[in-house]
Amino acid sequence: MKATSFSGLWLSLCISVMAVLILSGCSQTSTKDHLYQQLGSSAGIEKIVDGLLVEIEQDPQIVHHFRDTDIPRFRKLLIEQLCELSGGPCKYTGASMQESHTGFKITQADFDNLVRHLMKVMTAQNIPIAAQNQLLGMLAPMYGDVVYR
Ligand code: HEM
Repeated sequence: MKATSFSGLWLSLCISVMAVLILSGCSQTSTKDHLYQQLGSSAGIEKIVDGLLVEIEQDPQIVHHFRDTDIPRFRKLLIEQLCELSGGPCKYTGASMQESHTGFKITQADFDNLVRHLMKVMTAQNIPIAAQNQLLGMLAPMYGDVVYR
């Protein structure tokens, strides 16, 4: 009798743990799906990148880095990257962040400027602050590959 209730306890414990794991897995997926939607899906992300390109063009501190860049290609790749990162139905086809930024001598101040521009553009598009922070949190780990030391 005792052994039965003990194994019953284990069984319900295992079921609870599995349920928590499954639910947390699902909620992670839906949070990501949600981020893509919150950024405005495909059209919203294109608008963010277009807004960012305008900000870059008007920023004398960073625009020189893009002097020789193929802007339509850069635009396409950044859209792909933000779409994939936010859980959208895209595949990023560009180079790694380390490969594509090596040699540009991008400083911490440059990085901060770009982030500031991105926040300004997202705010102008009424992207909720939590979604902005979620995206910035995904970009932050790229800092080490982008910034020159
Ligand atoms: C987390 C932040 C950043 C992300 C996610 C990002 C993303 C990208 C992507 C997707 C590309 C295209 C890669 C390829 O050519 O295959 C790229 C290229 C480039 N990025 Fe960034 N970038 C970031 C930060 C910066 C910063 C701070 C600067 C300078 C202010 C910068 C300057 C450039 C330049 C100049 C290129 C073009 C390189 C070329 O012409 O070959 N990036 N970036």
